Parts: sequence; structure tokens; C-alpha cells
Amino acid sequence: MEQLYLYILLISILSLTFILLTKQSKKLQPPSPPSIPVIGHLHLLSNKQPLHRTIQDLALKYGPIFKLKFGFVPVIIISSPAMLEECFTKNDVIFSNRPLIRAAVHFHYDASTIGAASYGPLWKDLRRVSTEEFFSTIRLNLLSYVRVEEVKLLMKGILNVTKVNEFVEIELRSKMFECSFNIIIRMLTGKRYEFGENAEGGEGADKVLHDLLKESFELSGVSNPIDFFPFLKWFNFRNLEGKMLELKDRIDDFLNGLIEDCREHRNDESLRKAGEKVPLIYKLFDLQDSDSNRYSDVFIKGIIMAILVGGIDTSVIAIEWALALLLNNPKELNKARSEVDNCIKNKDRLVDESDLDKLPFIYNVMNESGRLFPGGPLLVPHESSEDCTIGGYHVPKKTMLLVNAWTLQRDPNLWEDPLAFKPERFEGAKTSKQRYSFATFGHGRRSCPGEALANRVVTLILAALLQCFDWDRVDGMDVDLSEGSGLTMPMVTPLKALCKARSDMINVVSSL
Ligand code: HEM
Repeated sequence: MEQLYLYILLISILSLTFILLTKQSKKLQPPSPPSIPVIGHLHLLSNKQPLHRTIQDLALKYGPIFKLKFGFVPVIIISSPAMLEECFTKNDVIFSNRPLIRAAVHFHYDASTIGAASYGPLWKDLRRVSTEEFFSTIRLNLLSYVRVEEVKLLMKGILNVTKVNEFVEIELRSKMFECSFNIIIRMLTGKRYEFGENAEGGEGADKVLHDLLKESFELSGVSNPIDFFPFLKWFNFRNLEGKMLELKDRIDDFLNGLIEDCREHRNDESLRKAGEKVPLIYKLFDLQDSDSNRYSDVFIKGIIMAILVGGIDTSVIAIEWALALLLNNPKELNKARSEVDNCIKNKDRLVDESDLDKLPFIYNVMNESGRLFPGGPLLVPHESSEDCTIGGYHVPKKTMLLVNAWTLQRDPNLWEDPLAFKPERFEGAKTSKQRYSFATFGHGRRSCPGEALANRVVTLILAALLQCFDWDRVDGMDVDLSEGSGLTMPMVTPLKALCKARSDMINVVSSL
């Protein structure tokens, strides 16, 4: 009798497994290249070109949705407007999680920053508070003085290394970085850092933070094999966990120092006078006074860390690409410059944020440059929180979603003459298809909260550079537009250009 029960049990288990497997296989699976056991498709990604280029080659072969396996992690990659719309409208909540990669655990306080937290009450709170106190139009307007002052300092800094009657070769990335860094850190904390020769006392906080962010990027994403083969952690693989723990402590020390320093200055007269124009951190201290459990120091660090990671390099990269494209397209460069000159006819002051509405061409230069060279060519990875379908294909829970913005934004079926630089194509209202043919800032709940700020910073800096200086290519050669690899996509060769101060703007710039 006992044996009969065992048989029945065995047959039931086998039938159930069979039913489940057939049910699973009946679900339509996205196309996928042949894979290798254990490593999945990682071998396809190991060649020399940047990841987004390899992904583009695969998209051309397998279509606008395909499936890969990065070690043990299932990944789908999409690149059509219809699929983007499906993911970020109907399935938006499902795709509002981020994968729990090791970098999120170590550098983002157990995934509790705006960029790394899963969709849920904590993320909603982080996003709401940062929107109200940092990203909203009201707060951006209140703190516009920071950006205007920093852009003035940038123009002065460039004037100091240029001449009036002669072109001088200059490298722009470090100057842009200093400007972008100080805009963000001042809007966050009110502190300003001197760079390079002006820096006091050797290695300044700017350098420390720059190195911390650089190192954290290097240990994130596809460069960390532990994310795809979790068991490697137990073998102390390349001491990656050790390196991450060490960096985590340094990041935490830096942020704790920053918070304590600001706390000590909380009652300063200058802050009282600033009223509503106080930097974000003082708004967060006020919230902490009202509810210290909910708005703990980790909560504050969760906002600051995400803004530092998301806000500094991205704007620098965007300005560099836009200027490089203008240099390679002199007709568009002249058109953009005429637009600023017509906007401030008397040339008696520097362009500022209140002029931006009158600079639609320069705004479109930024969009067109972001189309051709999106700061994040695969955006930031999302993860499904439950099973769903995209384009009729089954996508299981815990699948990583990569949005192939690079391919989408160069698709000849969506963009006429897609590789040409034509800022005019962004004129006019957008249809839904056009809206989802562009994804530089993402879509849906997890889209970039810094878009409005980035638009202001990038357009303002471009306009000011064109208003104050003449620009040309070095040796008359086209600027090298090779793109680097990684989560963000800088130019491989930092931009160098010939620069000459415009004589009718010298007085304005020197008096800034
Ligand atoms: C040209 C400049 C910028 C570009 C191209 C850019 C692009 C992006 C992209 C593609 C995402 C991910 C969207 C997704 O997951 O689908 C993102 C997220 C994010 N960005 Fe930006 N960004 C820029 C500037 C900024 C700035 C200036 C800030 C802050 C000051 C910022 C803060 C963030 C944050 C905090 C997130 C994470 C949002 C979340 O996960 O909820 N970004 N950005």
C-alpha cells in the first residue's frame, strides 16, 4: 500500500513538471542567439568594441526585442518605440525596479538611494522629497543664481587662457567638470571647491569625490562579474568584494564629513539671510527635525549620493558632445551663434537662464546631440517585479531590461538621414511614436529627474561659450567622435578646440 502511494506521488510530480514545462514552452519567447552553458551570452560581449555597439549588431540581427543571458541573469533588450511605450506605460510599475547589483548594495546604502532603490515606499519618498526640494521648477528658479555665477566663472577661466586676436588650443573637459561639479555641490550643500592650481592644501574634496565616483563606476555594471555569477563572491574573486567594501567606507566617510560640516554651519547668518534660496541639505535637515526616523542620515545620503552620481558627469558629457558636433558642422555652429547674438543684441551682458526660451535652436542642438550620443546608451538597467508580456513575448519576473537608446535613436525607419546632425528635426510637437523614438532621459517613473536641470545647464553653457568665444577645429581636422564604453558614454578623446575671445565681449567677460 505504501509503495502505491509513493508511485502515485512520483507520477503526480512528473506530470506536474511536464505540465509546467509545456506551459512555459508554449509562452512565446523573444529571439535569442545561441548561448553557452553557464556563461550564457557573455562571450558575445567580450570583444573590443563598446557594449552598445555589440548590442546594436545583435539588434540588427535579432530585431527590436531579444533575450540574452549574462551568466545567471536573464536580460531583454528593446529598441522600438512600440516596445518602449509598452514597457513604460502599461508595464511601467512592473519595470520600475532596479537590479540588485553589488554596486547598489555597497555604494548605494543597500540600494536605498533614488537611483538604486526598488520601487516601493522608500523610493517614492526619496523621489518625492528630491523633486520638491531640488528638481522642481520652483527650486531650480530659486537656485538659478548658483548656475549663473558658475557659468560666469567658467567664462572667466576660459578667457584667462585665451587671446583676442589669435586662436589658442584648449582642452575643455576639466573646465566643464569643474563648472558642473560646483553647480551640483553648491546646489546640494552651498560649498564651492577650487580646482587645479587654485586648490588649497593638496588633494581637495573635489579630487577625492572625483576619484570615488570614477572608482565606483569602474566596479559597477558589466565590469563586475559577481553580478552575473554570485557564487564568485565565496571564492574572493579578484578581491572584488574587498575592494568594494573599502571604497564603500571611503564614500561613507566623505558623505558623513559633508553632512557634519553643513550641520555645523546650520545657524550661520548667511543661511538665515538666504531664506528659501538655501541649498538642498538644509531643507533635508529641516525635514529631519520633523521626523528623524523617516528622514535619517542614510535617507539624506541616499539623495545626495544619487544626485552626485547622476548629475555631474552626465552634463559634462552632453556639453562636450554638443560642442564637438557643432565644430564638425560649421553651418549649425554659425546658426547657433547668431541666435545668441540676436538674443542679446547690445552685447552688454552675458546670456542667462531667463534668455533660454529665446534660444530654441541651441536647445535643439542639445537634443540632437543627445540623440546621436546619448549619455547612457543603454539607459540604467531596470528589472521586472513580476511576469509580463512585451510585444506578445513572455518576460519572466526578475528579468533585467536594457533600453537600447543608441540603436533606437539611429534607426533609419524612425529618423530620416539618422547619422546626420540636424537640430531642426526637433522642431514642432511630437507624436507618441516620435516621443518614444527618443529616450536620452528614459521614460516612465524611473526616468531622469534631472532632465530640466540638465537642459538648463547644457543650453546655458553652450550659449555662453558661443557668445563669448570664437571656435574652430584643431588643424582643420574633424573632431574624433569615437565613443567610449560604460554606463555613461564620454568621448574617447577629450575634446580639444581652437578658441579665441570675441573682441566685443571681452569687457563683459572680464568684468564678470
Ligand atoms: C544630460 C544629462 C543627463 C542625462 C543624459 C541623464 C540620463 C539619465 C538616464 C538615462 C537615467 C535612467 C533612466 C531610466 O532608468 O530609464 C537617469 C536617471 C537618473 N538621473 Fe539623469 N541624466 C542627466 C542629468 C542628470 C542630472 C543633472 C541629475 C541630477 C542633478 C540626474 C539625476 C538622475 C537620477 C537621480 C536618476 C535615477 C532616477 C531613478 O532611478 O529613479 N541626471 N538619468
